[in-house]
Amino acid sequence: MGAVAARQAGRLRKMVYLGDPLSEPPPPDLAAVLDRHRGRHDALVTVLQQIQGLYGYLSERALQHASRELGIPLARIYGVATFYNQFRFTPPGRIQIRVCRGTACHVGASPAILDALKAHLQIEEEETTPDGMFTLQTVFCVGGCSLAPVVIANETAHGRMTPERVISLAQALRASEEGGRP
Ligand code: FES
Repeated sequence: MGAVAARQAGRLRKMVYLGDPLSEPPPPDLAAVLDRHRGRHDALVTVLQQIQGLYGYLSERALQHASRELGIPLARIYGVATFYNQFRFTPPGRIQIRVCRGTACHVGASPAILDALKAHLQIEEEETTPDGMFTLQTVFCVGGCSLAPVVIANETAHGRMTPERVISLAQALRASEEGGRP
């Protein structure tokens, strides 16, 4: 092979390597999930839940690996994943704020709390702020009705919220997150 052809072949190999996520095996944590469900096409929702548990969302690459390893067409995986609204396809923010919309919290003004957060963060439900800091979501009754209205920030519940208090909470969480950076 001439020098030019060899250079071109090398470039091509590099392009293929970089452009094809499946040229590498799945990372070990994902491989462990897929191995547990190999040959079990009926467990697809469980597989998707566990992938989302690993990464916080369903990345295209992870779904491509799932398709190849489990022998399930990618279109079918997307069909199932998009059917359930529990699945996300974009990375979550570093801080996930969930406003409870259960009955007790609704009576306790959770709609006003949600509106205050939307206005403060400049995003809608299921969206993430452009800086990747906050994702805003709603949930239905988190079991803390006596403290309604409740807001969950990451995994911590904050009760007796008001629109003013939830803004203070968001500001404190942001300051803490920014202060914690190296
Ligand atoms: S309704 Fe919100 S915690 Fe029960």
